[in-house]
Formats: sequence, structure tokens, C-alpha cells
Amino acid sequence: MLKELKKIQKEALAGLNKAGVLAEIEKIRVGYLGRKGRLTEILKSLRKLPSEQRAQVGKLANDIKNKLMAEIEDRLKKIESRPRGERVDITLPGIVAAHGNKHPVTRIIDEICDIFVSLGLNVVEGPEAERERYNFEALNIPLDHPSRDAFDTFYIKDDLLLRSHTSPVQIRVMEKEEPPVAVIVPGKVYRPDAVDATHSFMFHQVEGLVIDKNITFSDLKGTLSFFANRMFGDSVKVRFRPHFFPFTEPSADLDISCIICGGKGCRVCSRTGWLEVMGAGMVDPEVFKAVGYNYEKYSGFAFGMGVERIAMLKYGVNDIRLFFENDLRFLRQWR
Ligand code: PHE
Repeated sequence: MLKELKKIQKEALAGLNKAGVLAEIEKIRVGYLGRKGRLTEILKSLRKLPSEQRAQVGKLANDIKNKLMAEIEDRLKKIESRPRGERVDITLPGIVAAHGNKHPVTRIIDEICDIFVSLGLNVVEGPEAERERYNFEALNIPLDHPSRDAFDTFYIKDDLLLRSHTSPVQIRVMEKEEPPVAVIVPGKVYRPDAVDATHSFMFHQVEGLVIDKNITFSDLKGTLSFFANRMFGDSVKVRFRPHFFPFTEPSADLDISCIICGGKGCRVCSRTGWLEVMGAGMVDPEVFKAVGYNYEKYSGFAFGMGVERIAMLKYGVNDIRLFFENDLRFLRQWR
């Protein structure tokens, strides 16, 4: 028993000599002096010894215990008095905090909004679950319009559906405020399209609405031309192609010269040299009637664009599904 104790003392002290950091010292303390430590076990078993041995072994065990405790105390003090840089191993590599980055769709939304904010429009948002009046009726979309078919819209229940465009927010803004109005509206929209490289059941739009006295089609042209050049570069040309929307009259689709081929014709622009980027037009008087605006006094223009389409063009992404799969190998490219 005495020999065993001497051995324990030697080992413990040798261990302490080698221990350089707090955790190692603590490990030794627990190993010998902890509740199940080697020395503790011996002290606990003293009772079982014949009384002649008990005094001798007990004394030695207690001496060793005190010595070890003093030694540990001493080491801890030494470590604590070292300059901070020596207490931790400053040569170990640090722990790098994970850095996120903006989703490419969010980046494009921010870019679009920033351009229009610089022209004085305010960013507003509206609900994704929408009433029929806002998604259709007040926008002059008749009952027999194909987009009103339950088959072409996600209906939650009667008179509640996932909005199929951001245009309903036009109505919400006009109902709340009198002209002048100048807003830009980013948001998610939903259409039960079969998913493929260019279609998704959910995507993003940015809507614009400007209303005041004497707003004309040339204001629309100037504003959207400015936007196209800011967004796609000064060399980009724009063209306004006649189109139809129930809530604007006249209406147009805005094309930009192809940013891939510069207008010569390529696969991306289907050899036409032009890319369609948004719908636009002068607000239809029927819409003004629906919200109680005086259509003799005020006029305005509206536009709406698909964010993913613009992101795909600008970043050269050829499959819309990549935006929604959460594959970090794809998303980290925008770090
Ligand atoms: N809401 C139309 C769409 O989703 C786009 C648009 C908005 C057209 C505003 C004209 C004016 O296709």
C-alpha cells in the first residue's frame, strides 16, 4: 500500500510537470483527488485496513493529498499570472464565423427598388393571400378572364387566393391614399404553372405605380428607360411594344436590346435581338373609378416585372429552379 501511494505521488507530480494548460491540470486533479480519484479511493478504503497499518498509510495518503493540492494551486497561480497571450495558444487557427450572403433574387429586388427610390418612389408591400376584389375586380379583370379560373389560380377558399401578381397592391395603396402616389412594390406571386426551366409556381415581381396631375406616357417612357439603363447598362436600348392589360390603357411590353448579343440575335433572345422585361401602361380609368379617384383630374402609369427573369438575364442563370433549391454551391456565388 505504501509503495502504491509513492507511485501515485510520483505519477501525479510528473503529470503536473508536463501539464501546460488549465484543462490538463483539471484532468489530473479529478483523476487523483476527484470523487472517484485514485487517491480518494485509497483514503476511502482506510477503514478496512488493520489498525496498525491504518495510521501509517493514512498519514502518507494525507501528506500526498496535501502536497498535490498545494502543487495544483501553485500551477494554477502560475498560469493565471502569465500574460494573456501565453495563456492561450495563439498559434491555433481561429474559429471563422459563418458569413451568409444575400440571395440573388433579393439582390435584384434591392437593386430595382434602389433605382426607383432614387427617383422618389416609396417601397410598400401587400398581402400574399388576397381578396378577389384586389387581385381581379378593381383591376378591371372580368369574370371570364382566364387568370380568374380556379384552375389558373391558387384559391384558398371563396374570395381568398394567393395573388397572381403584385398589381393588387396598386388598389390597396390608392384606397388608402390620395394622389400624388409614387410607389414601388416588391413581393411574391403564385401561379399554378408546371415547373420547368423558366416557370415556377412561386416567383417575385416588382410593381410600380405613379399617379399625379399631368402624368403622361412620356413620363412612363422616361422613367422606364432610365431604369433599363441603370439596371442593364448605358448601351442598352429600349422599345415599347403595344400590348394589352385590363388595368392599363394604352399598354405596352418593354423590351431591352439583348444584353447577351447586343441585339445581333442569339439563343437567349430567340434570334430577335430583344428581351421582354416588363409590362406597363397608363392606369385605366376603370381602375380609378374602382378606388374613387377622379379620372378627369389625375392620370398615372403602372408597370410590373418578373424578378427571376431579370436575375437570370443579369447573372446568366439558365434554370429558374436553381433559385429555389437552396443549393449552397449555387447561392455562394453571390458572396
Ligand atoms: N400585372 C401584370 C402581370 O403580372 C404586369 C403589369 C403590371 C402590367 C402593371 C401593366 C402594369 O403580368
